[in-house]
Amino acid sequence: MPQMSTTIDQLCQRLEDCGQAALSRYLQGVTPEKAQNAFAEQIQAIDLGDLQTLVKRYVTGYQSPPTPGSVKPAPYYALDGTGPSGVWARDEYQAKGEQLIKAGKVACFTVAGGQGSRLGYDGPKGCYPTSCVNEKSLFQLFAESIRKNELKHDCVIPWYIMTSPLNHEATVSFFEQHDCFGLQRDQIMFFKQGVMPSLNAQSGDMLLSDPMHLATNPDGHGGSFKALHASGAIDDMKRRGIEHISYFQVDNPHSNVVDPVFLGLHAFAPDSSGEFSSKMVAKARWDEKVGVFCDVDGATQVIEYSDLDEDLAKQTEANGRLSFNAGSIAIHAIGVSFIERVLGDADASLPFHRALKKVAHFDIATGRPVEPDTNNAVKLEKFVFDAIPIAQRSIVVETDRVEEFAPVKNATGTDSIESSKELQSLRAARWLGANGVSVPMNSDGTVNATIEISPLTAVGPDDLASVELPESIQPGQTVVL
Ligand code: UTP
Repeated sequence: MPQMSTTIDQLCQRLEDCGQAALSRYLQGVTPEKAQNAFAEQIQAIDLGDLQTLVKRYVTGYQSPPTPGSVKPAPYYALDGTGPSGVWARDEYQAKGEQLIKAGKVACFTVAGGQGSRLGYDGPKGCYPTSCVNEKSLFQLFAESIRKNELKHDCVIPWYIMTSPLNHEATVSFFEQHDCFGLQRDQIMFFKQGVMPSLNAQSGDMLLSDPMHLATNPDGHGGSFKALHASGAIDDMKRRGIEHISYFQVDNPHSNVVDPVFLGLHAFAPDSSGEFSSKMVAKARWDEKVGVFCDVDGATQVIEYSDLDEDLAKQTEANGRLSFNAGSIAIHAIGVSFIERVLGDADASLPFHRALKKVAHFDIATGRPVEPDTNNAVKLEKFVFDAIPIAQRSIVVETDRVEEFAPVKNATGTDSIESSKELQSLRAARWLGANGVSVPMNSDGTVNATIEISPLTAVGPDDLASVELPESIQPGQTVVL
């Protein structure tokens, strides 16, 4: 921490040398000294050498990435039992995955450091009331799913939760207020991801959120690799004998927190190196806003919906199915040793992506706050799926959309709490139907009832076999099991 004016002078010189002269002048004028030192400390936490390179690459000298060479659909293990090299045996991989879970070699990992700006909820997204009747939070639904799986597999499943400096305290206290929803406190580890400075989209100058603070943003879900290591989470996993991580996002209440089939394929399929595997669902429409698993020059990678050529996105097979059908739902299985390999190899580090955003800030030139109405800032983030091409052999596994994808991204419309609740009732209706219960349906395929099945009751249709169920559900009825 700079204690003397010479140290502040040195920092100002560094700022000037790396193209942040305006901030340097501003810092020189900050008083009193205590405030100046506190502000300098924030600046020192940023790797200024790196920042200069990033500003050139992503702001002042930004060029769109070249169009990928040969793009083909990525092969995947399909729900119909066909796979990249013929028919695959679901039962065999399920048994292998169950062994891994029972042996305590699998941990859950939830990325919950995002800002959730589209949802507009005032609090960590994981605390958002989500289940259709009892309005359980996303965190509670995951905690109960983990607990149910522990009981089924007679094991302990540690849970790692990545927060950001913006929502860490609120997240931890939410769990503490609710006694960790029945889990043991020491099986949950919370840790913060890193942040990046938000940059003026023209000049690359670091923005301030107020006169005494830099404006920052979490460094993306791809920041999780670094944060897992820096927080000691990787060491904690190794101490507990964890070999594979079941990765899911905080906003999908249908995440199957430990899926034996997926984990079995990830760890044991001959074309998987057990490093980084992904789940996909068939895209709902050609322009659905999800990344697509593609084979680019022989390697699997995710191409974002906005980057996939429109003609390719619309292309169909003889049976009418989209050729580029494999939509990413951000569920992965990741080998612990793979994360260590990526972190230890400078050439394998995940790249940044730039996003143009509106960032309210304090303008150091005028001394006034600014509320922009157009995008004025570049945010830099890493994406976890950029690890796919680094893996030696990465596989993609199809899953059913209703079973595993009911995201809460927006306040209304597509991928909102309304659409998620509809899907939650629909999945519950399917599970009940599979157990002989008749459920009233609407002509548009939605359920004419509101049904909530607690994860403590069932995390899959088979779990309902031992539960006392009604013969039928009445139209408009509200049911909680
Ligand atoms: P999103 O891409 O949906 O971003 O994150 P977001 O920040 O949550 O929401 P918007 O875009 O502001 O509306 C997908 C998942 O990745 C996590 C989120 O918490 C969510 O689980 N994430 C995202 C992080 O953990 N850190 C980040 O820096 C970004």
